[in-house]
This record gives sequence, C-alpha cells and structure tokens, in this order.
Amino acid sequence: MAIRFYKVYDFEVHGTEPQALHSVRTIEIENKMICLARISEGYFAIDDRCPHAGARLGLGKCTEEGMVVCPVHRYQYDAKTGKGASKQGDYVNTYPIEKREDGIYIGIEKKWWQL
Ligand code: FES
Repeated sequence: MAIRFYKVYDFEVHGTEPQALHSVRTIEIENKMICLARISEGYFAIDDRCPHAGARLGLGKCTEEGMVVCPVHRYQYDAKTGKGASKQGDYVNTYPIEKREDGIYIGIEKKWWQL
C-alpha cells in the first residue's frame, strides 16, 4: 500500500490563505468525498460521511477547539484524530495532509497497481 498525494489548494491560484480559519468544506478526490477542515493547528482531512446517518460533514461547521460538527444532528468529530465526541465511540477515517511550498495536499492510500 502506498500513498498518493493530491493537490487541493494551489497557493498561486488560491492564495496562501485559501480556506477560512475554523471552517470545513467537502473535496472530492477520485470519487472519495473528504471533509477538509482548517483549524488553528493547520489543515486536517477526515471522511466526509458522518457515521451516524450519512450526512456530509463538509456542510457542517468547525469549532475553535477543532471539532467538526455534523450539520444534521450535531455529532462532533475531532478534525485531527477523527474520534467522535459522543459516547458511542464512533470515528471517521483521517487522511494525511502535507503543506508544501506550492500548496496543500491530501494523501490517499493506493494499491501499487493504482499508482
Ligand atoms: S447524520 Fe451526522 S449526527 Fe446524525
């Protein structure tokens, strides 16, 4: 298994502050929906699908504490770890982020024959 990184923000095109602090948005990479959050520690990526009932987390909001809030029933997920705040112990997958000189990249795991 290897990781391929995809550029989601290009600093030349989108500027060096392409997404507002404490915000979320949905990004589609190769048919995978990912919620990209910008919190005070930087950018973090988690699955866009809420495990409770399938809402899109990228349509929710982000707290100053770095919790992504689902827009439907307001369950919260840690943008850095994907861990849910509810007692059910739910979580969402996380994806690696790289901030490079030219932009922000999200890493997606690939099988060797998909590289
Ligand atoms: S669908 Fe996200 S909390 Fe219910």
